[in-house]
Amino acid sequence: MEQNIGSILWFTGLSGSGKTTLATALAAKLKANGQRAYLLDGDVLRTGLCSDLKFSDKDRRENIRRAGEVAKLLMNEGYIVLCTFISPFNSDRQIVREACPAGRFHEIYVSTPLSICEERDPKGLYAKARGGLIPLFTGIDSPYEKPVEPELEINTNDYTIDEAVNYLLDYVLRVKL
Ligand code: PPS
Ligand code: MG
Repeated sequence: MEQNIGSILWFTGLSGSGKTTLATALAAKLKANGQRAYLLDGDVLRTGLCSDLKFSDKDRRENIRRAGEVAKLLMNEGYIVLCTFISPFNSDRQIVREACPAGRFHEIYVSTPLSICEERDPKGLYAKARGGLIPLFTGIDSPYEKPVEPELEINTNDYTIDEAVNYLLDYVLRVKL
């Protein structure tokens, strides 16, 4: 079987924007196509590798640094690494981008607006944040910097999950990951 060179698909966006949902479905399609795909998710890393970190700007920076390092290891083994982290700071995403060979880092901005994320509130976190129970919540009292020039942008409020995943898959095929 032809072995692809690795790459990173970096999903960034607010909590509840759809990062994990889209990347999980895309990873399944890639695997079904015989490609090696690996999902690195914020909620998962924060239970283990990053369990010492909280949500200060400094900790988020360290979280993304660690995630980026793991992603690079997997990329260099030939995986398509799907990274799903809020990753609120442009500079941190830029550091990971610059550490990758040209054309191997693809930033996907999941641009679902705050109002929709808050309405969905799948984990009840926005309600808690509004109630003062979770400090430093992204979009409420902690900043989110929109990507400057993402390779792709998708607002999951405009599409079904299937449509959105097919849009991502089209991109993956077009850029020949
Ligand atoms: S970051 O900013 O990139 O370091 O965050 P990340 O590692 O992606 O973790 C985000 C998930 O943590 C949960 N959570 C919070 N998110 C944002 N702000 C605060 N204060 C917070 N506290 C807990 C939440 O489940 C996030 O997951 P997603 O999938 O983004 O909703
Ligand atoms: Mg998630």
